[in-house]
Amino acid sequence: MIELKDIYKIYLDGDSEIHALDGVSFQVEKGEFVAIVGSSGSGKSTCMNIIGCLDIPTSGSYYLNGTDVSTMNEKQLATIRNRELGFIFQQYNLISKLNVLENVELPLVYRGIRHDKRKEMAMAALERVGLADRHSKFPAQLSGGQQQRVSIARALAGEPPVILADEPTGALDSKTGKEVLEFLKKLNREGTTIVLITHDNSIAAQIKRVVRIQDGKIISDEVKEETYEY
Ligand SMILES: Nc1ncnc2c1ncn2[C@@H]1O[C@H](COP(=O)(O)OP(=O)(O)O)[C@@H](O)[C@H]1O
Ligand SMILES: [Mg+2]
Repeated sequence: MIELKDIYKIYLDGDSEIHALDGVSFQVEKGEFVAIVGSSGSGKSTCMNIIGCLDIPTSGSYYLNGTDVSTMNEKQLATIRNRELGFIFQQYNLISKLNVLENVELPLVYRGIRHDKRKEMAMAALERVGLADRHSKFPAQLSGGQQQRVSIARALAGEPPVILADEPTGALDSKTGKEVLEFLKKLNREGTTIVLITHDNSIAAQIKRVVRIQDGKIISDEVKEETYEY
């Protein structure tokens, strides 16, 4: 479903080159829950941006559902991002001037879904995260954990096959973070493929497959045999 082959991402910083990704290859199959784990500056976000079709590699190839992403133009990439991928960020990235329902509707607006259908789908996503009763509130009126649940509802409203989460629990206290992680696991059990980025080993310990990245290289890729939490 996701296939990275020998991906390099080189940034130019004045005269020096920064090798953010240095020959990364791995695959994620449909239905997997994978954590990409590494310390700050190891290349996690760069990797996520490439998987999310938000950035293109300097070299190497990336296939998403069998399609070579490197051959796509900006419009095709925008369509792929909207249909195939749901995004969750550390800082929620909700729009403060839109209420909860409008925030969740946003990817469906871009998809061109008509008003009534859109509301219905957004409300269904809010039901799933347990926040339907807050649909007319604004982000600032919610707690951090609730805001992250709204952003999860936004990510899953269009029922994308893959969810990408960059440090989704990074801004939350440990109890709320655990709830968010449990919810993502539930989504995964229901069939959504999830790629989660974290620098936090206690989170990685709860996820079945862990890909470790260091200085832009994958240093290990392990699947736990027994995961009692699943
Ligand atoms: N736009 C950019 N321009 C220059 N260097 C960058 C840019 N984005 C990331 N980097 C560098 O690439 C490396 C990997 O960054 P990043 O992928 O953000 O790591 P992580 O998410 O693991 O903290 C770091 O050395 C970072 O400074
Ligand atoms: Mg990062």
